[in-house]
Amino acid sequence: MNIIVLCGGLSAERDVSITSGTLAAGALRRLGHKVVLTDLFFGYPHPYKDASEIFERQEEITVAAVGETVPDLEALRRQRGQTNNSRIGDNIIEVCRAADIVFVALHGQDGEDGKIQAAFDLAGIKYTGTGCLGSAIAMDKWIAKQILQQNGIKTARGILLKKGGPVSDIGFPCVVKPRSGGSSIGTSVVFEERDYTAALEDAFSYDEFVLVEEYIRGRECDVGVIDGKALPVIEICPKSGFYDYKNKYQSGLTDEYCPADLPDEITKRLQRAAEQVYEALCFEVYGRMDFIVDEQGEVWCLEGNTLPGLTPTSLLPQEAAVAGISYDALCQMIVDLSLKKYEVK
Ligand SMILES: Nc1ncnc2c1ncn2[C@@H]1O[C@H](COP(=O)(O)OP(=O)(O)O)[C@@H](O)[C@H]1O
Ligand SMILES: [Mg+2]
Repeated sequence: MNIIVLCGGLSAERDVSITSGTLAAGALRRLGHKVVLTDLFFGYPHPYKDASEIFERQEEITVAAVGETVPDLEALRRQRGQTNNSRIGDNIIEVCRAADIVFVALHGQDGEDGKIQAAFDLAGIKYTGTGCLGSAIAMDKWIAKQILQQNGIKTARGILLKKGGPVSDIGFPCVVKPRSGGSSIGTSVVFEERDYTAALEDAFSYDEFVLVEEYIRGRECDVGVIDGKALPVIEICPKSGFYDYKNKYQSGLTDEYCPADLPDEITKRLQRAAEQVYEALCFEVYGRMDFIVDEQGEVWCLEGNTLPGLTPTSLLPQEAAVAGISYDALCQMIVDLSLKKYEVK
């Protein structure tokens, strides 16, 4: 197959996405596909006369690593140096149209929030993973919370604050996060009132709206879901602090246990809850749900991720491996299940 792996984009999670993209592209190459890795924001840079030339050009793919800090998006805008405001780079729609499928390795804004999925639907381009509706719902932590609560899935009590609007709190400790964030960017655990203003300021630098949630004390567990069925549970134990950007992507900073050492009954409840979140939030093909199990054994859903990371420290590939699915097989499975969506019923 001819596959475009789409990564990067103008998202605070672009470095994570480039790492996911380079790894997935390598896997798809090993599986025998013709793969072109392309950055959504920078576009496809090479001239071509005929679409078939795009896949003849099989450039070497070097696996990228995630830096310790979030990329500077203003500097990237300047680097591209175009006067137009398009968040889609040159030739993206054309080269994606030439592929049999686009493997979406994007995270965060534009790629995980349903926008690129909607553009591809309109352009008749096939892509992997969840469609525009599920992506938009899951990316909006506030909307997702309402839907989860309506479906009987426990989520932390929370309030939504608007930039420049009245400030209130829900007591301390609490968690402050951008409404549509990812990778813990702009997220803080606030133990004392005096740190609240700085946490809000940081979160508001990424979003017009900020979610403040009750802090749930307990064990953090994630569950991947493929085609509606839960994978083994993974437990995450950062060596210090909470599961923030650094602890997520710098190797050795977090201990991970898969399968998690939990009573069978809790494992089953987590897996069932993950499948319910998948259904309730309109996920398709695959996803990963984040939970905390509190001291009473209650399962609280933090969020669902329609495009979970596929980096070396990412959780879904580790869970898949425990289920006997290698990284390469996981990528192929994502492609196959996604193509099934387009079969005429
Ligand atoms: N309500 C909460 N209680 C305790 N910890 C939380 C809560 N919400 C978020 N966290 C911590 O912050 C991290 C990021 O939050 P999450 O809602 O999963 O957003 P992201 O999309 O950035 O991953 C979680 O992995 C967890 O460690
Ligand atoms: Mg999360």
